[in-house]
Amino acid sequence: MSEELKQESGFGSSLELLDALGIGPVWVRRELAVEEVVAQEAPQALAAAEPEAAPAPAQRPAVRAPVETVPDEALAAAAPAPAQRPAPTPAPAMAPPAARPPERRTAPVEDEGGPPSWLDEMDFASSMEPVLIPDDDNDEEAPVQADPMVAKIAAMDWAQLKETVSDCRRCGLCNGRKNTVFGVGDEKAKWLFIGEGPGRNEDIQGEPFVGPAGKLLDNMLMAMGLKRGDNAYIGNIVKCRPTDDNGRDRPPSPQEVASCLPYLQRQIALIQPTVLVALGKTAAISLLGMDPSTPVSRLRGTVHRYQDLPLVVTYHPAYLLRTLNDKSKTWADLCLAMSTYQRQPG
Ligand code: URA
Repeated sequence: MSEELKQESGFGSSLELLDALGIGPVWVRRELAVEEVVAQEAPQALAAAEPEAAPAPAQRPAVRAPVETVPDEALAAAAPAPAQRPAPTPAPAMAPPAARPPERRTAPVEDEGGPPSWLDEMDFASSMEPVLIPDDDNDEEAPVQADPMVAKIAAMDWAQLKETVSDCRRCGLCNGRKNTVFGVGDEKAKWLFIGEGPGRNEDIQGEPFVGPAGKLLDNMLMAMGLKRGDNAYIGNIVKCRPTDDNGRDRPPSPQEVASCLPYLQRQIALIQPTVLVALGKTAAISLLGMDPSTPVSRLRGTVHRYQDLPLVVTYHPAYLLRTLNDKSKTWADLCLAMSTYQRQPG
């Protein structure tokens, strides 16, 4: 780990990081970069279907063709190495996301240890967040294009955007909310993590990912050399908590997503991140305009693009709390995101 990185990450060494995570060095395949592993492994078909945290709504496309595809199995094989080293070749044509100078403020941690602790700890089976209920009733698209507010939102600064969100009445979710959940983190972050929407804890506290899933997300960030508020921003597709008739969490409807998405779009424009990470199906299909039946397993392992920004899809932390075996896949996804980050210009 370089001195610069040690200072930026706040950890004196990767061993200290692992110590903070509550694990020791476990397994290392430092000599293999993700790309090298992929090159060595025979390409295999992606898994056809896997259980999902929550079906999510259809969303108006903002789609670009995927730019890179890595088989699941190869990524899982590469999982132990947070991709720190520079890519062997210059980045494939991937436009810089914005005009901001491309300085790199915090890089992913080196791989002196093994897989991060959240891969094999945090069995929250008994305390996990409510299972998200599919909302099959509502699959119409909202007339986002005709909404004059969208243009206003697109011109707002941070203060205006925060105030507008806190007063928002653009969809029915405002009726049941205790608090809007705007997002949290470094407003100049290079990393933007996007979840689905607030749950009960987030609604009460007004901050995203504060429950058990949030603890897991924080551990995932730490394993990447990031933390909430330091080169990472955490947002959601919708800013108010969606609940069903029984008061349980549910995915947002397409209309709710369409109403709220301009806020996230403005956040992305203001932050100008280098890499987006979609946490779960709702975030992925809402940003990529995918069919809601698309499983996360089919979106993983590919570097998608959202408005010229690389976007990596992984499982939602709440899903991982229920499906511990898929944690290693998420670590592989985060490695893909880190190697993608490394390849960005600057
Ligand atoms: N799940 C999400 O997707 N977002 C949150 O903020 C909390 C839980």
